[in-house]
Amino acid sequence: MKNIAGSIAVVTGAGSGIGRATALALAGQGARVAVTDVAGDSADKTVEAIRRDGGEAWAFRLDVSDPGQAGDAATAIAESLGVPAVLVNNAGIAVGGLFLDSSPESWDRIVAVNLMGVVNCCRAFLPRMVESGRPGHVVNIASMLGYTALRGVSAYCATKHGVVGFSECLRAELWDHGIGVSTVCPGFINTNIIRAGILESSDEDVEARRAQLDAFFQRRSHSPDKVAQAVLSAIRRNRSVVPVTPEAWAAWYSKRWAPWLVARLARRRLA
Ligand code: NAI
Repeated sequence: MKNIAGSIAVVTGAGSGIGRATALALAGQGARVAVTDVAGDSADKTVEAIRRDGGEAWAFRLDVSDPGQAGDAATAIAESLGVPAVLVNNAGIAVGGLFLDSSPESWDRIVAVNLMGVVNCCRAFLPRMVESGRPGHVVNIASMLGYTALRGVSAYCATKHGVVGFSECLRAELWDHGIGVSTVCPGFINTNIIRAGILESSDEDVEARRAQLDAFFQRRSHSPDKVAQAVLSAIRRNRSVVPVTPEAWAAWYSKRWAPWLVARLARRRLA
């Protein structure tokens, strides 16, 4: 999709981090942005930031794990703004801790948000996008953990591998409709993801570990804007899988050319 200006773009989880940066970047290119988030007040703040910059945006409360809310949001956006050309499925949470310490509840939650959230929003928004007959683009934010592995994040990794597989099938199915699908796979980005995430451990102080991981993510200092620029490029160039940040590229090539190295690094504790 070459021309983003004037199109309607929906971003999920746009109240913080990568979603907020993506909403701002799309608005900066002239898109009219539906800013959605489970936390409505944070969506409002993103809308204010976009409008301050002279862009056009509207806030909608949407919990992507609820298929009913996704359907209602798709209808409300179509009726108030029009049919979107761009859908960015960004909303996500982190769950950390060894598999043997993990609870069924945290697995259910992360699958519901990170994987089914993407499916729910595609199911809700795509029929109108296809029916419109106009070019469009879906961007699913996965992770480098969508194609590689790391100890202590099995549930997160499982959902992101699911997003990569789903997106590649969807790309094939939507090709003839002129709707591109990109899977953007960032490495470590400095956002709220660790502070907002679920951590589980049987033998460690969870809050001390959270502080340690958060400090690690801040030290990496890759900004969410870097991912937002990758989203714009993915839409314009109809790119398929898009690693972002050097560690994501390193994992991408190592997985192909040195899988033994990836397996060895996966056994190391992060931070
Ligand atoms: P963040 O925590 O800063 O932002 C996530 C946003 O999603 C928040 O505004 C939150 O309210 C919203 N959200 C959470 N659950 C939701 C739900 N059920 N429905 C709707 N909105 C919901 O995190 P960040 O880092 O910006 O994450 C965005 C996406 O990027 C996620 O899918 C994450 O997995 C992915 N990602 C993040 C990386 C990082 O290092 N920060 C690396 C790779 C991928």
